[in-house]
Amino acid sequence: MKMGTKETSNTSVTGGAPPAEPIALVSICLDPEAVNELRDFVRRTPFLRLHAELQSYLADEGPNLSWMQEPGPDVCLIDFDRDRVSATLTAERIQEKLRNTAIFALSRNSQPDLIIQAMRCGCSEYIVKPVDQEKLLEAVARVGGRKKEKKDQFSGRILTFLGAKGGSGVTTVATHLGALLAKPLGRRALLVDLHRTCGEAALFLGLTKYQYHFYDLVESVDRLDRELLGGYVVHHSTGLDLLPSPELNEPERRLIPEAVGQVIDFIRTQYEFVLLDCAPGLNAQNVEAIRRSDFLYLVTTPEVPALRNVARILSFLARNEFAQDKVQVVVNRHSKKDTIGEEEIEKAIRKKIYWKIPNQYHQVIRTINAGDPSAHLENSEVVRCLLPWAKGLLGSPDLKTSKKPSKGLLNLFGT
Ligand SMILES: Nc1ncnc2c1ncn2[C@@H]1O[C@H](COP(=O)(O)OP(=O)(O)O)[C@@H](O)[C@H]1O
Ligand SMILES: [Mg+2]
Repeated sequence: MKMGTKETSNTSVTGGAPPAEPIALVSICLDPEAVNELRDFVRRTPFLRLHAELQSYLADEGPNLSWMQEPGPDVCLIDFDRDRVSATLTAERIQEKLRNTAIFALSRNSQPDLIIQAMRCGCSEYIVKPVDQEKLLEAVARVGGRKKEKKDQFSGRILTFLGAKGGSGVTTVATHLGALLAKPLGRRALLVDLHRTCGEAALFLGLTKYQYHFYDLVESVDRLDRELLGGYVVHHSTGLDLLPSPELNEPERRLIPEAVGQVIDFIRTQYEFVLLDCAPGLNAQNVEAIRRSDFLYLVTTPEVPALRNVARILSFLARNEFAQDKVQVVVNRHSKKDTIGEEEIEKAIRKKIYWKIPNQYHQVIRTINAGDPSAHLENSEVVRCLLPWAKGLLGSPDLKTSKKPSKGLLNLFGT
């Protein structure tokens, strides 16, 4: 039976406007009848493009064809009838090379074990010939839907805050900036307290009632999705979300650092900004965080021991080829009366100071007690000083486009 000739539109299946980019198809070894049907189908369906028509299966060791590189086509349709073994190898090869390409098997034979075999070698759809046009359209629309979903994900900026030593002001700066991004600036922001125990981010935000913490989520990494994450975050009145740290009385658990990285990778698809409040030092979870950072802020006070640590961390990062322009030094509790001047600091650490935050203990304490940094824009010099920093972050490139974790840092620390 021939494919129907009825005009179809994608809107009846997807229920929305066509995707901005067409869906690219590649056909492999389709029999002459199916080739004609597919051409006709593509011509009639506005959001489809036939990228290539191959007459032979992909040989095991053969050279890569030009389209066999990421991102690759959206769909490969493989006819399984001419040679089932070669078709299976072809599907496996495509699945291995092109993770974003959906593979459809076409066959006259609808025996369940053959269908299962095709699914096992990576086919997401099994289309029985003669092809039912509506069914093919639905299958293609599913691929289109997933493509759009991926595009709609955020590619959040990872902002990592690391102190030169304890008490430098990491939690103060991270909570203030997070609240500013959320409230006056209206951004989707999440603060993660990476401390293994006794982190203070929740306290600084006046959030004392919560059931779960970040490391609970890390333990559930294998079933992590939007819904699960939603059940773990605590909401602050500014709109800032928080994943708190475990309490003091929590038993220490075994941690797989890579799982911390995986959770961060997922979280960044759900938020525009992810702020990481790190415990001092270069422990395994901090390393995972640093590897993924768009910016690493080293927070220090203008004191010799702290500055010495900054210099050490900077040279360590340089040795491990961490991009220097992503590291920013923040001098907290800065005062004109400091015995160590700005020039001296910059000479000692061999880097320009990125931001100076005034030493205003009472203002900071007042803000912490009130639990809402963004409410103190009028009366806190510290909050006012941080606003341009937060605004500057909005200038970063489009946050809606999909982005993979920074590849350049993958060799950091020899991992
Ligand atoms: N700019 C500042 N001026 C005065 N005191 C500050 C300032 N920033 C932080 N503090 C105070 O310093 C202490 C340590 O800050 P905190 O943010 O907890 O540091 P960390 O998270 O690095 O351990 C807190 O008591 C905080 O109120
Ligand atoms: Mg802290």
